[in-house]
Amino acid sequence: MVGLGAVVTAVVAGVAHGCSRAYYEDGAGHFYTGRCMDWKEPTKAKVWAFPQGMKRDGGVGAGSLEWTSKWNSVVTSFYDVGSVDGINEKGLVGSMLFLAEADYGSKQRDDQKKLSVGAWLQYVLDSFATVPEAVAALQTDDINIIAPTLPSGESASVHVALSDAANGSAILEYIAGRLVIHNGSQYKVMTNSPPYGQQLALTTYWQGVGGTAFLPGTHRAADRFARLSYNLHAVPKVNTSKLAVATVFSLVREVSVPLGVLDPHHANLASTRWRSVTDHSARRYFFESTTSPGVFWVDLKSVDFTGGAKRLPWPEEDLAGDVSNKFVPTEPFPFIRPGHHSRRLLV
Ligand SMILES: *[C@@H]1O[C@H](CO)[C@@H](O)[C@H](O)[C@H]1NC(C)=O
Ligand SMILES: *[C@@H]1O[C@H](CO)[C@@H](O)[C@H](O)[C@H]1NC(C)=O
Ligand SMILES: *[C@@H]1O[C@H](CO)[C@@H](O)[C@H](O)[C@H]1NC(C)=O
Repeated sequence: MVGLGAVVTAVVAGVAHGCSRAYYEDGAGHFYTGRCMDWKEPTKAKVWAFPQGMKRDGGVGAGSLEWTSKWNSVVTSFYDVGSVDGINEKGLVGSMLFLAEADYGSKQRDDQKKLSVGAWLQYVLDSFATVPEAVAALQTDDINIIAPTLPSGESASVHVALSDAANGSAILEYIAGRLVIHNGSQYKVMTNSPPYGQQLALTTYWQGVGGTAFLPGTHRAADRFARLSYNLHAVPKVNTSKLAVATVFSLVREVSVPLGVLDPHHANLASTRWRSVTDHSARRYFFESTTSPGVFWVDLKSVDFTGGAKRLPWPEEDLAGDVSNKFVPTEPFPFIRPGHHSRRLLV
């Protein structure tokens, strides 16, 4: 087991999986969340509509958390093993990003329920309406996240950013086996390593340097964090939702990684695969694939959530514009569970 642990650590250390997230307030008191997904290969992303009243469980067998979804949600999946991004009908948004240092703890406490890492974000969107509500419930640390190796061979090391329609933002990280929550609307930007407390210290340094004098330009997570933080405060607070969505897309594109860029020191340097921007007030979810010319969006208020789980016919079809009425009934994916996706690590 010691040998396997060393392999996992080496794999994670050699990988520069990215992703960046920002929470923007416009001039009219409306809020927007933008993020990108950076990964070494396409993530088999699909966009789903999940209704309220869906019976769910943590997906990892005996002792799994069980719940029934309270809210409709629209989410993007990752390799058909988990929900990594999305919004619910109350305007709560969840953004799951890579964090090599994530440590969910190996030992379950007696009072904890098990939850697949692939179900973590979905559970939050299904259950809570606002960030304060989610934080109040989750801070008890009653959940034991089970994180099997991903289909792509990496460990499922992630953290989650939550944001809502009323200036609520929080960063959730498992560090040394304990859930650490940074709760407050000042936590507007998230990228990847290092853990958030250290990241905030680095940011203080860059604020001292001053963004008009110098901004760090590499694709590393700490550099993306510094650039995104500076730009988020440098852009104006625009007054229309159309311009606000464009502004947030522009921020996320600026920290994106071009397709196919190679770094000799990071063999798996991750290109941006897709981006999303959510208009919390309008309950509108914009999605842009980096291998497709069009942006499409979903207006949650126009989606027909009756008749079970559905998904968009993308990427089979190129989509653009308002696709709220294009969802088709589809069997939902099972959340990642131990033993089902770990073969590639062992070869
Ligand atoms: C989280 O932050 C919100 C807004 O700042 C606040 O209302 C709430 O009480 C905080 N929750 C906890 C558990 O500290
Ligand atoms: C949102 O929170 C920020 C602090 O992070 C504050 O400066 C701003 O005024 C708040 N906006 C609204 C609309 O409450
Ligand atoms: C937004 O509207 C307010 C109030 O009319 C105005 O003061 C502000 O300059 C506007 N912001 C932009 C970026 O146009």
